[in-house]
Amino acid sequence: MRFADKCVIVTGAASGIGRATALLFAAEGARVYAADRDFEGAQRLSGESPGITAVACDVCDVAQIKALMDRAAQDCGGIDVVFNNAGAAGDRAPIDEIEAEGWDRTMDLLLRSVAMGIRYAVPHMKGRKGASIVNTSSIAAIGPGYSPTAYAVAKAGVLHLTKCTATELAKYGIRVNAVQPGFINTNIFTTALEMPADLVDTAKAMILQASSNAQPVARGGMPDDIAQAVAFLASDAAGFMTGASLVVDGGITIGPRHAWDPETPDMFSALQAMADAAAAAGTPA
Ligand SMILES: NC(=O)c1ccc[n+]([C@@H]2O[C@H](COP(=O)([O-])OP(=O)(O)OC[C@H]3O[C@@H](n4cnc5c(N)ncnc54)[C@H](O)[C@@H]3O)[C@@H](O)[C@H]2O)c1
Repeated sequence: MRFADKCVIVTGAASGIGRATALLFAAEGARVYAADRDFEGAQRLSGESPGITAVACDVCDVAQIKALMDRAAQDCGGIDVVFNNAGAAGDRAPIDEIEAEGWDRTMDLLLRSVAMGIRYAVPHMKGRKGASIVNTSSIAAIGPGYSPTAYAVAKAGVLHLTKCTATELAKYGIRVNAVQPGFINTNIFTTALEMPADLVDTAKAMILQASSNAQPVARGGMPDDIAQAVAFLASDAAGFMTGASLVVDGGITIGPRHAWDPETPDMFSALQAMADAAAAAGTPA
């Protein structure tokens, strides 16, 4: 019960990584405020645990972020942990085609939201013992090739924001760290591709298989793999860590599995082979 009676905010809690992390915090005794623009999804989550309260919050709307933090703090008398996690793929256009509006929208969703999450939580975190912020970055921040450019730049910004705010907030005893997930089996890919509902399960299975082939750890990444890392960073066990980031990626950034296992196709060949197999079987991919 590492988070007994702690007040914890999780954004993007209706699905994937946020959902798994909210459930883990709640299982360890926290009062969790599960915020998402998908309020129905957040409500379904709150039905799974008495420790979870659903809050409607679009993190692109700064007033809604402030309202989220103020409400949780009013209920609990302060905030102990914030997981700034909500996100999506953003604008996927290449750099010679992207419009300024799409660029700004991506930065607002993935970077400004984290800055404003910190901005409006911190006044309620000062003086709370063990106060901690965790931000979701990505392996896309390590180098090009893992995501569209706007997404990668925003996630690299999250890493630097994490370091800068870690130094600014140290005087209040607030730690700030980041997590960098690799390929995790959530809805983020199928949502970005606007995949029809009846194809989502097939597509997710293909991504899971392809990523497990590509990584040194030969299984797909799951939301709980990230939840465990976030809970560690937020806990007192990580009390000597601030401004740090944890890469949780099955090892894909140290080298793909096909580099040392000649039997294993690379990620993109594997995806193509599976798309071809699905097409041959009559399932559009
Ligand atoms: N899945 C991966 O492979 C992966 C890898 C690296 C980083 N990430 C990051 O992890 C975070 C969580 O993504 P996920 O994979 O769990 O995806 P997901 O699609 O399963 O969950 C994302 C959640 O964020 C919510 N959301 C989106 N925009 C929002 C907004 N404006 N306001 C409030 N909520 C919003 C969605 O409704 C959804 O519930 C994101 O920041 C994503 O960029 C994911």
